[in-house]
Amino acid sequence: DKKITIAIDGYSSTGKSTLAKQLAKKLGYVYVDTGAMYRAIAFFSMQHGYINTDSFDKEALINSLPSIRLQFQFNPDLGFAEMYLNDENVEKQIRTIEVSSFVSKVAEIPEVRTKLVEQQQEMGKNKGIVMDGRDIGTVVFPDAELKIFMTASAQTRAQRRYDELVQKGDTVTFEEVYKNVEERDYIDTHRSNSPLVRADDAVEIDNSNLNREEQFNLVLNLVDEIL
Ligand code: C5P
Repeated sequence: DKKITIAIDGYSSTGKSTLAKQLAKKLGYVYVDTGAMYRAIAFFSMQHGYINTDSFDKEALINSLPSIRLQFQFNPDLGFAEMYLNDENVEKQIRTIEVSSFVSKVAEIPEVRTKLVEQQQEMGKNKGIVMDGRDIGTVVFPDAELKIFMTASAQTRAQRRYDELVQKGDTVTFEEVYKNVEERDYIDTHRSNSPLVRADDAVEIDNSNLNREEQFNLVLNLVDEIL
């Protein structure tokens, strides 16, 4: 059985993880949400007071990187893996709007990226993996057999993220979410280290007007062509 690597990149809230989970389930592959890893580091920085709305002590974070251990643990009840930070399940804590507001600043730090990219490459060394993020097709797995680059209008994306947060009981305003989505996209596309950019050989999917099923079938056809 041929196993491949599937890299899914794109802007915030384009539905990358929904697609990646569907694919992993269908193919029996491992799914890795790399955004969760950057979020866990941002959460750690908040917990230790390294980052707040006024300041960011990058040196302190860089110095404590060796003490940060990230692991994914599959939860059979949920059907996907949850993020553990130094043995603590932080799956809920890393999805807040507060973490979202700091994560892109943390993800700009080269030392942070080096650490996480290494771990991601290790997780994918035997293929049979679907990984989503911002630099998977460009930096983590430049040789991935299938690369998808997802886009959607900012309005569509903010609405999705807003619905998701409200459903979880978060009290946020649509404007707040919209602003965060735009801010993160700006930082992610403008950073000097591994900026978010479509790999030359990635297939671009704008899903503003595609439902989940249409999008899934489109990508399954691409997979079938390779396998
Ligand atoms: O995917 P998600 O929206 O959870 O990612 C949160 C943030 O983590 C992104 O906005 C980006 O700043 C950072 N990230 C990254 N590289 C990745 C995955 C996420 O820089 N591969």
